[in-house]
Amino acid sequence: MKYVIEHMEEGFSEWVRLEYAQIIKDIGAGNLYLTSLPSQTTQADIPQELLDLGLQWTTKPVNELIDPATNEPIQSERTCILYPRADTDLVPEDAQTYEWLVFGGILGAHPPRDLTLELIKKYGYTGKRLGDKQMSTDTAVRTTNIILERQTKFEDIKFIDYPEFRFNKSEAVEMPFRYVLDSEGQPILPKGMLALIKKDSEQSLDDLLA
Ligand SMILES: C[S@@+](CC[C@H](N)C(=O)[O-])C[C@H]1O[C@@H](n2cnc3c(N)ncnc32)[C@H](O)[C@@H]1O
Repeated sequence: MKYVIEHMEEGFSEWVRLEYAQIIKDIGAGNLYLTSLPSQTTQADIPQELLDLGLQWTTKPVNELIDPATNEPIQSERTCILYPRADTDLVPEDAQTYEWLVFGGILGAHPPRDLTLELIKKYGYTGKRLGDKQMSTDTAVRTTNIILERQTKFEDIKFIDYPEFRFNKSEAVEMPFRYVLDSEGQPILPKGMLALIKKDSEQSLDDLLA
């Protein structure tokens, strides 16, 4: 199974860098393609950590990706976009139909923007939903991987919605997303993300008090 992220943000924020690094660690660099980077992008524009992890990237859009198995562009009947407002949920049986899973490389905004819809309109691929709550891109990839590759139904995956991360007595941040729980019942976040959330929350408090 191949996972494609259509990069829709300007540049690489710290959030996006941590999310993409975690996705590579989860599914393997050979199974991830980052597409639609701005046409002038060079190696020097890609965060070194992602290059070191073996990130495969291109300025071409997803529909021009070449399938290494056939040397032809990927087949649209074998491609599915994960879209939060699609009519049907992704199920384990979809593994027989789809080989290419496409995600929007978009930071979760609250309230959600509907940017993934642009991908659906642009490429006309089938859209499938992963439940009705917004997930970060790494959570959406993780959930898709569990459903299709571990053949586990969405209802059988343990999630937490809007977890609160408490840093000390007076500081806590509630994240407006859904996360997969690990075997210890803790939400799975990219490595380094908690520290970044804390830093960002201190920054916004500073801005408020400035
Ligand atoms: C942070 S989300 C962005 C969603 C945002 N509401 C938008 O479309 O602007 C990043 C990506 O994760 C995937 N995703 C997140 N939640 C999802 C859900 N509930 N169902 C299907 N895909 C989801 C989509 O591919 C989406 O483009």
